[in-house]
Amino acid sequence: MISLNIEKTLQFVSKETINGFEPKVKDALEKLEYGSGKGNDFLGWLHLPSSITQEDLNDIKNTAQVLRDNCEVVVVAGIGGSYLGARAVIEALSNSFTWLQDKKTAPVIIYAGHNISEDYLFEMTEFLKDKKFGVINISKSGTTTETALAFRLLKKQCEDQRGKEMAQKVIVAITDATKGAARITADQEGYKSYIIPDNVGGRFSVLTPVGLLPIAIAGFDIDKLIAGAVAMEKACGINTPFEENPAAIYAATRNALYESGKKIEILVNFCPKLHYVNEWWKQLYGESEGKEHKGIFPAAVDFSTDLHSMGQWIQEGERTIFETVISVDKVNHELKVPSDEANLDGLNYLAGKRVDEVNKMAELGTQLAHVDGGVPNIRIVIPSLNEQSIGELLYFFEIGCGISGYVLGVNPFDQPGVEAYKKNMFALLNKPGYEEDSKAIQARL
Ligand code: PA5
Repeated sequence: MISLNIEKTLQFVSKETINGFEPKVKDALEKLEYGSGKGNDFLGWLHLPSSITQEDLNDIKNTAQVLRDNCEVVVVAGIGGSYLGARAVIEALSNSFTWLQDKKTAPVIIYAGHNISEDYLFEMTEFLKDKKFGVINISKSGTTTETALAFRLLKKQCEDQRGKEMAQKVIVAITDATKGAARITADQEGYKSYIIPDNVGGRFSVLTPVGLLPIAIAGFDIDKLIAGAVAMEKACGINTPFEENPAAIYAATRNALYESGKKIEILVNFCPKLHYVNEWWKQLYGESEGKEHKGIFPAAVDFSTDLHSMGQWIQEGERTIFETVISVDKVNHELKVPSDEANLDGLNYLAGKRVDEVNKMAELGTQLAHVDGGVPNIRIVIPSLNEQSIGELLYFFEIGCGISGYVLGVNPFDQPGVEAYKKNMFALLNKPGYEEDSKAIQARL
């Protein structure tokens, strides 16, 4: 089971201060459990792990098999919560280099619909030209411009390249039950489709088909992923005492640090496979807490990589930050530093040591240096990179986020601020229905 260690925050905020958050955390957990807080129509994620049935999982696995049998590449078209969860899990569990090799055991998963870069989309269509590819069109609203535009290109290319009948087989939609263009298209074209429950917001949807289908196509065990999430759902539930509930302690600690002036939380990993877990976490916490002119700013770094870029800032910049480090206890492979007779690089003192031992010392050395430099350090240890641990981690962060948002006093489940850029973009593009906004925005230019 993943574990949380807040020891290295206690010289910055006292244990009493953290424990002082217990009543607020309890209140937040009750709001989640009884649906009595703001945004209570978006709590479907809370007991999602324990309520997914084996039939649901088998159906997803069957669809995954159809795409695995018929595709070399599967494009996940989605943005924000409609792709980050899948990407986080797939990249955390995948071999970093298999996708570059000729012999593959699963379709390569690529991503679209999360940008409007003409070069990116052009290069994607070029890459797909000689590939047997399928598409998962993921959009809860079914109307997101970035995703719809990419899907328009992908649908046409898939039909042109693979024929209408095969396209119908290898295009899957994951969207609203009734609303939105993605639903209309799926129904008219006869695509296999899945429903994103009304009460599950995008950034909390990784354990619905939104995440589970791409993860299963990539060849990972979604039963184990869910089992991990179920274990964490139990560990972080309303009946667990405050001091034994890791999500409660995480929420209390980060809010205590925030109130003490630590306005930025940096999620840290020492394993590049976790890069997209960082990205998923940034969205989860940023969209959930950053409102009403408050909220911890969620930043993220990959170490050692970023020790050689952001390391300076973290060590000696403005003291408004704290770090949350995801540490992987046991790596999946063994590689030792070789001995070298000439020892020109001076590394023989490491000969025979596991590379991970060196990495762990980098991690410990960094923790001590950053704490000495005034950066509180929360540590999350995951036993190893596998489906069970990642399932635990996802749910831990989800419920930690729900609790934190309520402790902060905001609605963690809406995202009104995301609309502002869309309104301007539509006005600038003269979208029908935006005539008045178009005139107003043109006058400002
Ligand atoms: O968390 C959220 O709600 C957002 O990030 C959405 O997931 C994102 O905007 C995509 O929306 P949609 O799934 O409606 O295309």
